[in-house]
Amino acid sequence: MAFDQKQMRIPGPTPVPHEVAAASARPMVNHRGPVFKKVMMDVLERLKPIFQTQNTILALTGSGTSAMEASVANLVNPDDEVLVLVGGTFGERWAKICRAYQAKVHVLDYTWGEGADPAQIADFLRRNPRTVAVFATHNESSTGVLNDLEGIGAAVRESGALLVVDAVSSLGGVELKTDAWGIDVVCTASQKCLMAPPGLAFLSLSQRAEQRVFEVSSPRFYFDLRVYLEWLKKHEPPFTPNISCFFALEKSLSLIESEGLGSVFARHLLLRDMVRAGLQALDLPLLVEDKWASPTVTAVKPGFSDIGRFLAALRETGVELAGGQGRLAGQIFRIGHMGSAAPVDMLATLAAIEAQLGGGGKAVSAAEQVWNRARQGKHVGGQGSEGHFI
Ligand SMILES: Cc1ncc(COP(=O)(O)O)c(C=O)c1O
Repeated sequence: MAFDQKQMRIPGPTPVPHEVAAASARPMVNHRGPVFKKVMMDVLERLKPIFQTQNTILALTGSGTSAMEASVANLVNPDDEVLVLVGGTFGERWAKICRAYQAKVHVLDYTWGEGADPAQIADFLRRNPRTVAVFATHNESSTGVLNDLEGIGAAVRESGALLVVDAVSSLGGVELKTDAWGIDVVCTASQKCLMAPPGLAFLSLSQRAEQRVFEVSSPRFYFDLRVYLEWLKKHEPPFTPNISCFFALEKSLSLIESEGLGSVFARHLLLRDMVRAGLQALDLPLLVEDKWASPTVTAVKPGFSDIGRFLAALRETGVELAGGQGRLAGQIFRIGHMGSAAPVDMLATLAAIEAQLGGGGKAVSAAEQVWNRARQGKHVGGQGSEGHFI
């Protein structure tokens, strides 16, 4: 059977609300004309409260990885010493990009399924004072871990190294205080918590980072941020941007603004807790303990071995989940609960999971209890009861 409305519960891309999709279908405009200038500057300005920053935000036409690569290309010279925190495939991606740009890469591995330890980072930086930058993943989507970015920020600040953060699967769904936590570069993308189609990446640059962009000698062209900064003064992008995605973001930012950022964050915490309660009611082992549990993606390490067949059977019922990546491939499945996701979507997703596993309603009932407590203001993210979705 073909489903018009799927439960697309993967860790991105996420469902695009119909009004956002409709906005992206707006007729094309001249990217050098006054209409687009206004749209671009408006979107970049309205992203600042979500980044919680006064820093410059740049838009790149590409997926999240383009912002990651641009960060490395513009901040790291060949032979520079960098520290990369690796606890999953996206941490590994930072390391691969840094190696591609010929940095001397030190890896601080942390257990896949746990968060990085700020004390270990501080210790490494004390022993390796030549480290010019630290690359971290806020929300490691391959494991469902939310790192203690505030703690990491404090650990890095003492050393004077730049802190560069992949917030591709967290920004807009999870608190991220760029300025207060001292983060020099935050990278994100349009297709996750920001509820737009894939096609735009964003990065914020602290003054220190902006200065560094002009000092490094690494070769770069399409992602030369000096050029982006120069053109931004004229309110223009250097190259033809993803104009349709900008139109989409204008609308999705309105949705976030009208829900209120605090409510958006509280809703993501509620969705996480509903999903975890439902899975636990089915005795499905969670990969990550509560302390590190991501508000945007949850990983399950089930006892059964044929996860591929389980995911294919779910797909037949209209529910799309994700498998594991890297060394967790074939061992876990992941449920995305970010962006356009409501409590009832979690009930539907859990209902489909337990229909496959013979849960008899236990998962839905457990999740519903979490939701009910939230509506009575007893949930940790209780202020979410003001949110549109609740
Ligand atoms: C944490 C994280 N970083 C980076 C990426 C890469 O983003 P993209 O696929 O948009 O290049 C993803 C995408 O899943 C992600 O979840």
